[in-house]
Order: sequence, then C-alpha cells, then structure tokens
Amino acid sequence: MTTPPSIITLDGPAASGKSTIGRRLADSLGYLFFDTGIMYRAVTWIALSRDMDVRDEDMMNQLAQTAKIDIRPPSKNDGRPCDVIIGEQDVTWDMRSSDVEANVSLISAYAGVRKALSQKQREIGLRGKVVMVGRDIGTVVLPEADLKIYLDASAEERAKRRYDEVIARGEKADYDEILKNMIERDHIDSTRAVAPLRPADDAVIINTDEPSAEQVFEQVLKLCK
Ligand code: DC
Repeated sequence: MTTPPSIITLDGPAASGKSTIGRRLADSLGYLFFDTGIMYRAVTWIALSRDMDVRDEDMMNQLAQTAKIDIRPPSKNDGRPCDVIIGEQDVTWDMRSSDVEANVSLISAYAGVRKALSQKQREIGLRGKVVMVGRDIGTVVLPEADLKIYLDASAEERAKRRYDEVIARGEKADYDEILKNMIERDHIDSTRAVAPLRPADDAVIINTDEPSAEQVFEQVLKLCK
C-alpha cells in the first residue's frame, strides 16, 4: 500500500457531509480530525453571549485574536465529536444554536477574524497527518495540501440533513427556516471578499446528493490510496 497523503483538506458548504466523512477518514487513517467551523462558531458564541455588536468589525477582529477556545475529547456520549469549552462553560451544543447560525457568516467574513483563525489552523495543519475541514482550507489555509476534496450537495438536501440532526437531538426544528438560513449562509460564504467558499483548482469535487455516506466515504478512501 502506498503512503496516504499527509495533509487532506475537505471543503464545502454547510451540511455537505464534510464532518461525517472527515471524521471517518481521520479515524481510519489514524489522523487528527480538525473542524475549523468550530472556531468561527465559538467566536460568534462569545460575541453573542457578551452582547457585543457583531457589526463592529474591529471589535470582532480583536475578539478572534484573544478568544480562548478549548477543544477537548468528548466527555459525554451524546453524539458530540469533541467538547468545546469557553471559560469553564461547555458550549458544544449552544454553538449549534440558530442564533449562532444566523450570525456566524457575518463574523467569518471579517478579514481580521479570518487572519487570526486561519493562522492557528495553518500551524496545526502543517504538522501533517490531518484531515482539516472547512470552507477555505484547500484554497487559503493549506494550499500545499496533498489531497483536496470539495463536497457539494443541493441546498434542499443539506437543509433536510440539518433538520434531521436537530430533531434527532430532541429539539424543535422548522425545515423552511433552516433552508432559508442555509441559502443565506451559502450566499454570504461564497461571495465574501476574503477567502470565499469555492473549490481549489486542484480539488476533487464530489456531489453527495445521491450517494450514501458509505459510498462517498469509499470514494474518498480510494483517493487516499
Ligand atoms: O462548517 P460550519 O457550518 O460549522 O461553519 C460555520 C460557519 O463558519 C460557516 O457559515 C462559515 C464559517 N467558516 C468559514 O468561513 N471558514 C471555515 N474554514 C470554516 C467555517
């Protein structure tokens, strides 16, 4: 067997399957799985919990530089891939709230926020043996990656997946609201001036509308061998 690529990037829009596939791939290769969306969500959560003005770009840039976000192995068996701790508070699920979802794209469009967070991501990624997931990993954070994958799916299919996830956690969900929010986020993420969501020129693009998670995983695994 040939050596698998050391730095693997997995980009794509929300709920395109990046986390599911990325986590399985990292497990099967014995690599670190790093979901960069957590960092943007955590900064957004801090801003909202402190009643900060999310439109104040300088303040958000400053916050991203100083935020202490602790990512630890999962302490509970409730489907969480890891614990996200801010201060002493476990914000793992709060970070997935609709309030955070409604503001995270705005905050992640600020150049200073992106610079602060991508620098940390790059340092971790360059150590190798990593599957890093996000929007701009193959294009900006780790353009030298050995394998770049871009997962895509229709907004309707992705909204359905998000809806099912929320319901499975025993929370209430409104499909139309989720779909509207998904389309809005896609628009902001892909039209922002800095590091917009797009596949790298050398990325392998996989549409996940039709194939099962298992089939997508097999396809991605084949690319690693
Ligand atoms: O993958 P996610 O849904 O948890 O990401 C949350 C938000 O963070 C998403 O709307 C865009 C932003 N994000 C980003 O701009 N760049 C990344 N590398 C990862 C996430």
